[in-house]
Amino acid sequence: MAARNLVILYGSQTGTATDVAKRIRKQARLRRFNTTLKAMNDFSLEELKQTPLIVFVCSTTGQGDPPDNMAKFWRFMLRRRELPAGSLSHLKFAVLGLGDSSYMEFNFAAKRLNRRLLGTGATSIQEIGYADDQHELGIDGVAEPWIAQLMDNLMVNYPLPEGEGMLSDEGLPITSFRIDVLTETSENCSNAETAEKTDDDPPFYARILSNERVTALDHTQDVRFIKFDTADCTFKYEPGDVLVVLPENLPAVVDELLMLLELDGERKIRLFVNDEDVALPDSKVLRNPCTVREAATKFWDFQAVPRRSFFELLVHFATDERERERLKEFASAAGTDDLYGYCFRPKRTALEVLQDFSDTAKKIPIAYLFDLFAAIKPRSFSIASSPKYHPGEMHILVAVVCYKTKLKRPRTGVCSTWLAALPAASIIPIWVRKGTMKFDKVEDRPVVMVGPGTGVAPFRSFIFDRVAEGVGHSILFFGCRERTKDFHFETEWQALQDKGLLKFEPAFSREQEEKVYVQDVMKRSAGKVFNWIYEQGGAFYVAGNSKQMPTGVMNALKRILQEEGGMSGDEAAEEVKKMQSEGRYQTETWG
Ligand code: 2AM
Repeated sequence: MAARNLVILYGSQTGTATDVAKRIRKQARLRRFNTTLKAMNDFSLEELKQTPLIVFVCSTTGQGDPPDNMAKFWRFMLRRRELPAGSLSHLKFAVLGLGDSSYMEFNFAAKRLNRRLLGTGATSIQEIGYADDQHELGIDGVAEPWIAQLMDNLMVNYPLPEGEGMLSDEGLPITSFRIDVLTETSENCSNAETAEKTDDDPPFYARILSNERVTALDHTQDVRFIKFDTADCTFKYEPGDVLVVLPENLPAVVDELLMLLELDGERKIRLFVNDEDVALPDSKVLRNPCTVREAATKFWDFQAVPRRSFFELLVHFATDERERERLKEFASAAGTDDLYGYCFRPKRTALEVLQDFSDTAKKIPIAYLFDLFAAIKPRSFSIASSPKYHPGEMHILVAVVCYKTKLKRPRTGVCSTWLAALPAASIIPIWVRKGTMKFDKVEDRPVVMVGPGTGVAPFRSFIFDRVAEGVGHSILFFGCRERTKDFHFETEWQALQDKGLLKFEPAFSREQEEKVYVQDVMKRSAGKVFNWIYEQGGAFYVAGNSKQMPTGVMNALKRILQEEGGMSGDEAAEEVKKMQSEGRYQTETWG
């Protein structure tokens, strides 16, 4: 009989794929499979060549890129010399993709992975699944039936050993970590096991030089221009790179949580690995031992919308009849619609759910809080400074997120609210990563940049880099609501334009009756855009925090190609495709 070992690999950017992968592991364990769960990056080429059965859960990020914790794995997957056709013919696999169909490159990473695996001779045991955030039931709408089908499939191909049945689902799962509560007299938690920070290892510690609001006080949106002192950091960065920060929960919400859970924040705890598939938190993020308050501040993402697994776990601690019944319903397959209506659609946070289940909340053992809440996720911001023009500094532009949901409480973005509250001289850990946009190295090639709102950030970096180098022609289309309210870096653009170093075209959407957007003012410079992009082979970059804006801008460019170049609609579309394949048309969006 075939060995019943199942490897589950995930590529996850925000943790959804990890959660789905854990659900698959749980289902497989109930069916008595020996399971291994890992991020793709933690899986080696050698292991891949020896593993007979793998389920992949793979997210696609905004621009069709693979998630960070899959990038290394994906690089060796692409090496055709090491993985020629037929080299993985021993492997049986299934791929579940997680994506968002409102983006152009829906489930692109999963599709490529599936195709590449087939190309190595591996056998697919189930058709690729395309889970979609836009589905009326969210990711689960496709993921749940896909997982159910996978389990049926596995049971047919890898039946249970004679006389053995499935395990029962009733038991409380083991915790990821075992926890010792330290008494006052036991070890002090200030230093033990806390890794020594070395200057060459990320994260780097950067000091905030200034944190100023750059939108008018009577403007609805608070946008912060934050400057960091990075003179002592050893990393290098380029235009297009992003700054990564790990936000914290603010003290007031931490207090709210601790009160609800009836926990003493000053209690000291030490974590030990309890589940071999899980690693201890990075000691630079959460020292070990730590206090409960530190875990709540730096690690537990209780202001995020919880996943289904949250309810599945919570049900085990409910003793109040009413709360237990409701949680049971939410955790069951039959309760998918109800759970969606209660939690996912109104974007209810884990904290708000716990407030609704306050009796259960008090009964959760501390160790399980590390399983109940996901770890706080890092957030990225396009770097707005130029390493050449602003040496020793790094700048970002942050829109403070605040919006209303169907619930009463206004929602604030965890990271942007935390950043906005940081005073000058605060020191915070930062990382630097490549962004999705790779700026043109062909120095004298003209570039067209379209960056409404905070989308202008990466272009400020690139423009000042070019200014420092004294190269190239640049045109920037910037969009905002009103000249006096949210016109980021107006004086800088004006000064560069006056010196002949930049051509600059603003679009003000709310200064007149009808909206004027960046794509509208592009039309006014149609001749120049066509000349630079088509006749001189220049590059075209788009960045911003709107989902529709990139499509509007692309359509405007296609129209310019048609009107100025006499192309048909198809020819213009072909031309944009060609630009994309040559890296001359790039987009970075967020939000
Ligand atoms: P609006 O808020 O007045 O609609 C920066 O956010 C600027 O981008 C604002 O002026 C905003 O206009 C504009 N914007 C919103 N949606 C857009 C779209 N689909 N295309 C281009 N610009 C857009």
